[in-house]
Amino acid sequence: MVGEVTPTIQADAEQLAQAAADFITAQVRANPHLSILVATGNTPMPTYAELARRVEAGDVDFSRATAVQLDEYLGIEDDDPRSLWNWMRRSFVEPLGLTRTVRLHSPGQFGAAIRDLGGLDLAILGLGPNGHLGFNEPPSPPDAPTRTLALTPASLESNRAYWGVAVPAGAITAGMDVILAARQTLLLVSGAHKRGVLHAALRGPETPEVPASFLRRTALTVIADEAAWT
Ligand code: PGA
Repeated sequence: MVGEVTPTIQADAEQLAQAAADFITAQVRANPHLSILVATGNTPMPTYAELARRVEAGDVDFSRATAVQLDEYLGIEDDDPRSLWNWMRRSFVEPLGLTRTVRLHSPGQFGAAIRDLGGLDLAILGLGPNGHLGFNEPPSPPDAPTRTLALTPASLESNRAYWGVAVPAGAITAGMDVILAARQTLLLVSGAHKRGVLHAALRGPETPEVPASFLRRTALTVIADEAAWT
């Protein structure tokens, strides 16, 4: 049994974004070559927008960092509006001025790319309403590898909400093994609908049924807003 983790609580999503941007800014200042696993989803978008403002103001430089894709739907074209690769590029890579990226094409290619990077320095993660990390759907043990899989009904539903249309039933995700090996993990959680799953992840038993519960094995920082915790 690993210890309980207490999040840093921010008043609202905007304050969360400031605190998360502070954390990420400090990391890239300490290591300009930071390799970063980059979640999409709604939660980190205000954080990425705040980082973009800081880059624009000349306060921080991401040009030597590497952005690594966390997950993707299967069977979509490059110009599909639902492409998570494009979402990462639009929200993070381009506005922050990164020039190095790792795209998630296949488990073999991805594993080799992570090895070439010398591992991940930082994983920026959201929390699935069902406890997933990336598309490591429940149940996912801590050694679950990078793989293709079928999305659960809960994820099909929550992901449909991003686009207003259905998403593919299949996906590829960075493995739990890759995520849990990151030197730092930053979990961002916003909104009352995440409260139950956040408490399960940080206070409940470690279990494949809540893949995020294994994050307590890592050098974990959790930033949540009040609605998601109290
Ligand atoms: P959200 O997604 O940030 O849009 O809530 C998180 C997730 O499903 O991993």
